[in-house]
Amino acid sequence: MTVHFIGAGPGAADLLTLRGRDLIAACPVCLYAGSLVPEGVLAHCPPGARIVNTAPLSLDEIVAELATAHAEGKDVARLHSGDLSIWSAMGEQLRRLRALGIPFTVTPGVPSFAAAAAALEAELTLPGLAQSVVLTRTPGRASVMPEGEKLAAFAATGAVLAIHLSIHLLDKVIAELTPPYGAECPVAIVWRASWPDQRIVRATLATLDAAVGGEMERTALILVGKTLGAADFDESRLYAADYDRRYRPVGAEPRFPEAW
Ligand SMILES: C[S@@+](CC[C@H](N)C(=O)[O-])C[C@H]1O[C@@H](n2cnc3c(N)ncnc32)[C@H](O)[C@@H]1O
Repeated sequence: MTVHFIGAGPGAADLLTLRGRDLIAACPVCLYAGSLVPEGVLAHCPPGARIVNTAPLSLDEIVAELATAHAEGKDVARLHSGDLSIWSAMGEQLRRLRALGIPFTVTPGVPSFAAAAAALEAELTLPGLAQSVVLTRTPGRASVMPEGEKLAAFAATGAVLAIHLSIHLLDKVIAELTPPYGAECPVAIVWRASWPDQRIVRATLATLDAAVGGEMERTALILVGKTLGAADFDESRLYAADYDRRYRPVGAEPRFPEAW
């Protein structure tokens, strides 16, 4: 018996890995994390599967479900939205499973920041403008932020920020980021990326508040940084005609003479 943790993607049912889909189809028990996991993904469960929404459960109750499946020798598909490496609460479940000696696997998923960037048709790391993306959030009722992880501290680097779990604190985000980035810095908000009711607002830090209006749907990502919507950026050296590389030797004395 194994518990398979599976990243269920940002919302669209077909933004799921083939491995994830096949594992879901093979497990007689499926535990999924509330409103963010789409029904289309649950449709891969086999007929008669026990399907449990864990949103109203405590960690103890979730672990009890896993332990029961273990005792019955039933594999479990454990679904969390997006990818499991960020804000999935997988870490505490794995710690409990290790202590109980229950085996598990981890299958990644499409994270919401990638789905939001795709919706914006944006490469977040453009040469000469930004080469780092910070996946972050603001403090929540259940989550204190470590002292050094202030938005302004990340902003001081000039990196693109992908701010999760924070749409309800938009005023605070704008106020904190305007001094380091400047009022003209481009911003985009993507609500429910990849869902049928996806919504996008593009603005600057100065115009964002007015552009958003009264939208309060919580599932949204705020992206801030120079690369959003930028047309004036360098081309990558990697594909420059004169760039000598292993896969495309150039010149009389290429650096890697034995091309692959
Ligand atoms: C608990 S975190 C889960 C993050 C998830 N593990 C991931 O890989 O993206 C939930 C937050 O992720 C963001 N999020 C998740 N799905 C989203 C989507 N489809 N569109 C926009 N933001 C999304 C929102 O900021 C939301 O408040």
